[in-house]
Amino acid sequence: MAKFLIQSGKPLSGEVEVSGAKNAVLPLMAAAILPGEKCKIRDVPDLLDVGVMKDILTSFGGTVEWIGDGKLEIDMENLTCKEASYELVSRMRASILVMGPLLAREGYAKVYMPGGCTIGARPIDLHIKGFEALGAKVAAEDNYIEAYVPEGGLVGDSVYLDSPSVGATENIMMAAVLANGTTYIENAAEEPEIVDLANFLNRMGARIKGAGTDTIKIEGVKELHGTAHTVIPDRIETATFMLAAAITRGEILIKNVVPDHVKPITAKLKECGVTVELADEGLYVNAMDKKLVATDIKTLPYPGFPTDIQSPFMSFLATVEGASTVIETVFENRFMHVAELNRMGANIKTEGSKALVSGGKTLESARVVATDLRAGAALVLAALSAKGTTELSEIYHIERGYERFIEKFRSIGANILRTED
Ligand code: UD1
Repeated sequence: MAKFLIQSGKPLSGEVEVSGAKNAVLPLMAAAILPGEKCKIRDVPDLLDVGVMKDILTSFGGTVEWIGDGKLEIDMENLTCKEASYELVSRMRASILVMGPLLAREGYAKVYMPGGCTIGARPIDLHIKGFEALGAKVAAEDNYIEAYVPEGGLVGDSVYLDSPSVGATENIMMAAVLANGTTYIENAAEEPEIVDLANFLNRMGARIKGAGTDTIKIEGVKELHGTAHTVIPDRIETATFMLAAAITRGEILIKNVVPDHVKPITAKLKECGVTVELADEGLYVNAMDKKLVATDIKTLPYPGFPTDIQSPFMSFLATVEGASTVIETVFENRFMHVAELNRMGANIKTEGSKALVSGGKTLESARVVATDLRAGAALVLAALSAKGTTELSEIYHIERGYERFIEKFRSIGANILRTED
């Protein structure tokens, strides 16, 4: 099993470039099912999750090829299969995103139940509610969901989401683009990845307005055509490097960023006393020789503090003098990193969805496990500031979601080794 050996050392410093966003590229790849013509996507990160989506599209009869550095060409003209196998879906929860495009284009989809990170129950009732509102007949069995569109096709309608689910908003948007009439998604997710998807769909000829607000209007069109698109930078990777500078008390210039997308992290780091400045080429983060103070965070849908950065931020808070409260409101089981951080000398107590961090600890190396993607990132950050050499296992979680993780961290001075034993 592959592991990381992480040795703490000097503060990280230098420049690093952020990749295209994992959470944006997966829905974009699913959306490429829609037009039945070639689409090109640029700035695609080379990640295990992208490989899974590539395999799913190929299993449908499509052709997906890397045509240069970070460029993916997807041709879904031939669509011979409309069923996503358990083997593929169990490797990545976002596989469910093929359902909306398949229903829109083919009127049928069968998807085995999603896998991916085990952070809470993660139901898909809102996706199903949306498909049904547009007229699809959906049967959800124990281990698969099957849906078909009756004669006459999907028909636009209003869909109110009980909570602003990112995946449900994306899936319903993709189902609605070819429907008859107009669909409104209310209490929609407002994440930048939703805006990126809407831009891609509009380039194909869709008519979507309001993406990035809580009400998205989708006027159905008769057909879509192939197009090209560049993925937005990964705001979660950006935030991870911001925290790398903070936790090692270093300074990093982070390139290829959209500063607006990381505003909640910028605000919180500044509250703690870290310098975050806009530079010509990106975002400059400096925590060198600063007197840092604790702060409280509460995760919320965008533009609130992202749940994906809750665990990396908690690692940082464990090292800052003072007490902090971290409240997780998006997922119900996202404190799995706490036990591991405590094994490294942190003092964190959880009470339901609340974690109380008594900071100011000097973290110590330990043998720890990456229980999910972001927990893995949190432990790498903790290890970079801990005394000694930390052994981190189950690192495939990290490699699912961060491109050239080791290379990038090494380029700013981190001492990380990947071993296969
Ligand atoms: C996406 C991101 C993930 C991020 C999350 C929240 C991708 C590939 N993943 O996941 O990194 O942590 O947004 O920002 O983009 N829910 C329901 N019913 C549903 C769907 C969701 O109750 O049908 C609940 C979930 O259990 C969870 C909350 O809504 O508590 C948010 O989930 P959602 O926004 O759907 O997350 P994902 O799209 O799975």
